[in-house]
Amino acid sequence: MISIKSEREIALMVEAGRIVALAHKAIKDAIKPGISTLELDKIAYDVITSHGATPSFLNYEGYPASICASINNVVIHGIPSDKIKLKNGDIISIDIGACYKGYHGDSAMTHGVGEVSPKRIELMKVTKEALFCGLSFAKPGNRLSDISHAVEEYVTSRGYSVVKDFTGHGVGRNLHEDPMVPNYGAAGHGPVLRKGMTLAIEPMVNVGRSGVRILADGWTTVTADKSDSAHFEHSIVITDDGYKILTIEGDENVKK
Ligand code: MF3
Ligand code: CO
Repeated sequence: MISIKSEREIALMVEAGRIVALAHKAIKDAIKPGISTLELDKIAYDVITSHGATPSFLNYEGYPASICASINNVVIHGIPSDKIKLKNGDIISIDIGACYKGYHGDSAMTHGVGEVSPKRIELMKVTKEALFCGLSFAKPGNRLSDISHAVEEYVTSRGYSVVKDFTGHGVGRNLHEDPMVPNYGAAGHGPVLRKGMTLAIEPMVNVGRSGVRILADGWTTVTADKSDSAHFEHSIVITDDGYKILTIEGDENVKK
């Protein structure tokens, strides 16, 4: 069942999303060659907890950290470690969730480390554009799969592939709620979008083929063909005439 959030619940999700955005900002500022992904995890933990929230991912189904830090061919769920240090030219996908007064915000973005190749910059750009291309279909009356279709269509038109083994999702009282939001499929299917639905839309885009593999740690998800991958995600609420991004800060939070 897809829950419709009240104004009160949406206000709490705005705050959860703001805290996620603040954690992203702090990590972005700290990213440089030599820093470990465990240090980045600590930065997010400190921002989240100092704002009265808890890291949504920590202990979620046994996940051992506050963020996912996924470098180059790692698609998602890279576990922070003091042994993994950023190198010049890497791309790193950072995924962060925060729970504020019982409501979650969830957002991911991919950053370049130092000087990054044009190919990798293009991958990040296309993935971010794919997110916003999908979001442009997030409005009352549209069907959920209109978003899915738009994401896939954009990504494949640019010569990349979307990951199909993981999806976006509803978000709110739980980190993962109904509905699942695939990044592929035909338009015109699935539930009709309504005001007050809250969704996390999150394209994962590979340079090569769409297949992925999970490493022995049970989390780290890599591209099967070892190609690079990027990930952008926002939590949104469906409004009267479109959507509002929740995982964004202050003035940036313009109504779409
Ligand atoms: N943004 C990811 C998701 O929506 C993060 C989950 S990581 C986990 O699934 F550790 F919480 F599983
Ligand atoms: Co998510």
